[in-house]
Amino acid sequence: MKRNAAGIPENISIKEAIQLLERSNYDSGFIIDADGRYHGTASASDLRRLLISGVSETDPVSAQPYHHQYAVRQADLGSEEVVRNVLSDLTLHGVEHIPVLDKDGRIVDVFTLEDLEHASASSTGVGANRGRLKRVLIVGGAGYLGSVLTAQLLTRGYTVRILDSFLYGRRSLEQMPRTPMLEIIEGDLRNIHTCVSALDGVHAVVLLAAIVGDPASRLRPKETIETNVIAAQALAMACKHQCINRFLYASTCSVYGLGNTLLDENSDLRPVSLYARTKIASEQAILSMGDGYFAPTILRMGTLYGCSPRMRFDLVVNTMTMHAFSEGKIRVFGGTQWRPLLSVNDAAESYVQCLEADLADVGNQVFNIGSDEQNYQIESIAQIIAEALNGVKVEHDDKSLDVRDYRVSFRKASDILGFQASDTVGAASKAIYTCLAQGIIPDPTQKIYYNHFFDVMEE
Ligand SMILES: NC(=O)c1ccc[n+]([C@@H]2O[C@H](COP(=O)([O-])OP(=O)(O)OC[C@H]3O[C@@H](n4cnc5c(N)ncnc54)[C@H](O)[C@@H]3O)[C@@H](O)[C@H]2O)c1
Repeated sequence: MKRNAAGIPENISIKEAIQLLERSNYDSGFIIDADGRYHGTASASDLRRLLISGVSETDPVSAQPYHHQYAVRQADLGSEEVVRNVLSDLTLHGVEHIPVLDKDGRIVDVFTLEDLEHASASSTGVGANRGRLKRVLIVGGAGYLGSVLTAQLLTRGYTVRILDSFLYGRRSLEQMPRTPMLEIIEGDLRNIHTCVSALDGVHAVVLLAAIVGDPASRLRPKETIETNVIAAQALAMACKHQCINRFLYASTCSVYGLGNTLLDENSDLRPVSLYARTKIASEQAILSMGDGYFAPTILRMGTLYGCSPRMRFDLVVNTMTMHAFSEGKIRVFGGTQWRPLLSVNDAAESYVQCLEADLADVGNQVFNIGSDEQNYQIESIAQIIAEALNGVKVEHDDKSLDVRDYRVSFRKASDILGFQASDTVGAASKAIYTCLAQGIIPDPTQKIYYNHFFDVMEE
């Protein structure tokens, strides 16, 4: 029954207490004075609520009357009535652990509800809510990557809260499990009130929502700047204010734009679109907010491919596969441009790894996410898909409207996160083809599968 400490010294600041809880992997802790006496229980969410109510992050934890008194005296453990009252109070407030105090108010043990029920013999130790599963807010969680990441986090026992304006409808939600572990908020990232409310009780934020892709951004520049630049930075600022220190920002290898060498995180950025420029602007602004507490991580992903509950057919592998299915041929425009690819499943896995990594390793860092082996020329992508789909014809057109051309090194993510892509283009293209052939996606020409039609609702 002895557990490790999540004691919060009463003289540390609210900000330091949140960080202490994050580092110790406890959701709540017991506030103790210099003599080890218990003064109350406070969760990281309780502390964050104080910040949003205007209390200074530098105030000592002890200066606030928020912490709950949930404790039982060692001497009372024998009294059935006292234990029953304590138990009903704990159940009412959703508290899972309770300190057992000696006659001087010092913590001598920590009981779970079950321990209390049995009111068994005690040993020494201090602790609280070890390993409690965390709540992650995914802004844009109904999208192509978001819906896959949501499923992966739920499988791993996280509570996931999605904030999404459903630009491409709600179909992706239909494939998600109905469980209290999944919370859905329909709302716009550009509404700061909605965002701040969505942050209540969350431990980490993943920002995926954006106007995504060069064509969509070109067609809707105002919405792109509002969403990708202004709203993205406002959300990061709101997180920093509330000491939600783990903030993952979805960026793209498109920020490199053009390059003749293998580009790493320190290479020059040569964006060739408004979309890439907005991503760079937010990367820089969000990183500049970082300090020892707020520690954002920027994930520059390669171009994604594969099946998702919110399917996109405007991504190179998915488009080629769709054409192979509907027209019996693949069209290649240009063909010599280099592009790093990454499956949507592998991309989601990299976010899980970042959420679970030590913040000191991933905070205030930029990672290219992909694999060195999946830097392809467009021509080779067509060949791989044609081969996977039993020799579909490939047609060439010299004209290419997409001038992006870059190869990227993914060594840093491999070294620090241990990230390795496991899916392949050939296997993913077969899986997409099967989905189309079986009618799981009945009409891939529908506008909801193409981001540049985002203002056209069609369900
Ligand atoms: N798909 C790729 O190839 C790729 C590659 C690199 C980086 N990324 C980045 O990954 C992220 C996710 O991309 P995706 O392919 O899943 O895109 P997506 O368009 O499928 O998903 C974006 C989601 O954000 C939501 N959204 C957009 N504006 C919103 C707003 N104002 N408020 C609330 N929700 C809003 C949309 O409804 C959608 O569900 C993006 O930030 C994108 O830049 C994607």
